[in-house]
Amino acid sequence: TLTHKRSTPCTGIEYSCPIEEIKRTKSPVSVEHIHYDKFGNVRNLEIHAYPIFDREGNITQIIEYNLDISTRKRAQEDMEQSPEKLRKTLEGIINAFASITELRDPFVAGHQQRVSKLACAIAREMGLSEEQIKECRMAGMVHDIGKISVPVDILNKPGKLTDTEMDFVKGHCQAGYEVLKQIEFPWPIAEIVLQHHERMDGSGYPQGLSGEEIILEARILVVADVVEAMASHRPYRPAHDVEKALEEISKNKGIIYDPEVVDVCMRLFSEKGFELLNMER
Ligand SMILES: [Fe+2]
Ligand SMILES: [Fe+2]
Repeated sequence: TLTHKRSTPCTGIEYSCPIEEIKRTKSPVSVEHIHYDKFGNVRNLEIHAYPIFDREGNITQIIEYNLDISTRKRAQEDMEQSPEKLRKTLEGIINAFASITELRDPFVAGHQQRVSKLACAIAREMGLSEEQIKECRMAGMVHDIGKISVPVDILNKPGKLTDTEMDFVKGHCQAGYEVLKQIEFPWPIAEIVLQHHERMDGSGYPQGLSGEEIILEARILVVADVVEAMASHRPYRPAHDVEKALEEISKNKGIIYDPEVVDVCMRLFSEKGFELLNMER
C-alpha cells in the first residue's frame, strides 16, 4: 500500500490526500494544505505529487514534495489588503486635518462640512464617478485648512479688509496646498484646494486660471463654497438666505462659476429639496 511513510493510508478527513487522489485519478496532483506546526503556527504548504508507473500501468511509487509557501501567502494577503488600508489611512488624515481647523475656528469647521456635503451632492447629480464624489467630499472637508495661517482677528473682522489683510486671506489657498501636498494622496486634493478661489473668467486667485484649466472638482467646490458662505451666519455678518446665494451663482453663471455646476446646484435646491442641514452651528 502506498502511504506517506505512515502505517495507515490517509483517511482524507484532514485534507484531500494527494496519494489517495493519485491512486484514484492516476495523474499528478497539486494541492494547498494548511498545516499547524508543533508550536501551533500556521504553515501554508503546496503539495505536488507525481505517480511513477510500471510497464503494466500500475503505480509503483509516488514522488511527493511539499513547498512551504507561508511567506508568499502572507505577502499576497498584505498586497490585497494594502490599497484599502492605505485609503482608510489617508481618509483618516483628511479627517484629522479637518479637526485641526475645528480647534482653531469652529466657523470654518462647520463651513467645510457643509461645503463638502453640497459639493458631493452636486458631483453626484452631475453623474460623476464614486471616486470623483469622494474627491469632492475630502477636498471640501479641508479646503480652508490654509486659514490656520491667517490671524483670527482678520478672519473675523467685520467690515471691509485692507489690501494687506486681503492678501493674508488670499494666502489661505497656497497655505492649504503647501500642507496637503506633503502627503501623497491618490487624489489631487492639494490641487483642488489650491484652485478653490479660481474663477471661470480668470479673475480669481492665486493662479488666475480660467475655464477648464480649473479642475472640475475645484469648479464644483467654488460653487458649493459661495452658496454655503452666503447662506450661513458669520461672526461679522448675519446669514443671508439660500435664495440670495442662488441668485448670486445664477447671475455669474459662466462668468465666475461653471455653468453646468450652477445649473445642477440650482436644480438640487429647487427640485430635489436639498438643504444645507445645521446651518446654524
Ligand atoms: Fe476658501
Ligand atoms: Fe471656504
